[in-house]
Amino acid sequence: MLAQRPPLGWNSWNTFGEHISEALIHEMADCMVEQGYLQAGYEYLVIDDCWSLRERDEKGLLVPDPVKFPNGMKAVADYVHSKGLKFGMYSCAGVLTCAGYPSSYDHEFVDAATFASWGVDFLKYDFCNFPETGDCRARYQTMSMALKATGRDILFSACNWGQKEPWKWMRSVGAHMYRSTGDIMDNYISFTDIFKSQLDNLCMSGTACFNDMDMLTVGMCGKGNVGLGKVCTYEEYRMQFALWCLAGVPLMMGADLRSLAPEYKELMQNPDLLRIDQDAECRSLYLIRKGSVTTSNPEPKEGEFPWKQLPDTSYTFIRHLSDREFALAYVNFSPADAQIHCEMADIGLPVSSGYALSMRDVFTGEQLPPKTDFFNPRVPAHDMKLYLCRLVPVHG
Ligand code: GLA
Repeated sequence: MLAQRPPLGWNSWNTFGEHISEALIHEMADCMVEQGYLQAGYEYLVIDDCWSLRERDEKGLLVPDPVKFPNGMKAVADYVHSKGLKFGMYSCAGVLTCAGYPSSYDHEFVDAATFASWGVDFLKYDFCNFPETGDCRARYQTMSMALKATGRDILFSACNWGQKEPWKWMRSVGAHMYRSTGDIMDNYISFTDIFKSQLDNLCMSGTACFNDMDMLTVGMCGKGNVGLGKVCTYEEYRMQFALWCLAGVPLMMGADLRSLAPEYKELMQNPDLLRIDQDAECRSLYLIRKGSVTTSNPEPKEGEFPWKQLPDTSYTFIRHLSDREFALAYVNFSPADAQIHCEMADIGLPVSSGYALSMRDVFTGEQLPPKTDFFNPRVPAHDMKLYLCRLVPVHG
């Protein structure tokens, strides 16, 4: 069965855009193995848009660009497979891909057969240049059938940017993951908006068909194809990765792994974070509360207070994991430090229960004394705290 857990891998788009080649894919495959990504679970290496010629051949088949891929795609797939990785490619449900290359509308079966003949294990399927009269759901269903017809296990990564509420129907057309938003950009506002926009939809994500909040920008630091706006800090990237894990969604890395700073490699290979992302039960988040953050108002005008409220900027979540474990998160989306409030009673543990929550800080490894009544950590601006927790009886 494909996509029993959220798929993990790397995709070429965020950093490289059209600048892809056989040599790049070889180097990335080597890197994924030598630097421990494969062992950590990242198994799919995916080539995004811009891999083909601008025209199909005389038989109507897609043709890999011979300058970028001089030995064809089967050779690339063979190399990726020889490393123990799985190989992903890209096409689109419209008449041209987003970058204007030939695409699979009305060519679904022939293209799926081509991908299968090359040894493709994963197909990202985009939504640009889709005919106005076309039926979006029907076309994803058609490609899903075409992939099944190949007889090969090909993970169907449907990318329709959240159009027509895909969380309601992508599972029923056989997709294994579905992009639920427009493209991520390498900045704080972009990833926090994506996360918040999917909170109500995550309950429909789970085994066999996951909500895809887009490729990670962790560690890109403004380099590459999706840089826009202010470069993220380490804490902001840590928040992005931790939120994706907390949400239990696919983790497709987008940075250049060959030159990634060690702290980002460590972050994306953190076993506790990956354990949360990959939890066998695939449950969604329980929102404990949304709160306001009080920040200073340094130059109050007449009648104003020396402080102000930033509404709906602090969130607490708990996620039930397998083996009676929990992930507990305090997220501060505001540009001011905050004390984030959480009563144990709000998460179903009144003092009278006789149980406390033992907590281990996922980022520092620190074990905290069990909490019985409340726990209100101070969380810096644009940062979060994340704990792995267990229930323990209160003695005496
Ligand atoms: C769309 C997708 C991106 C990427 C590009 C490629 O914008 O949403 O993830 O695949 O197309 O052109």
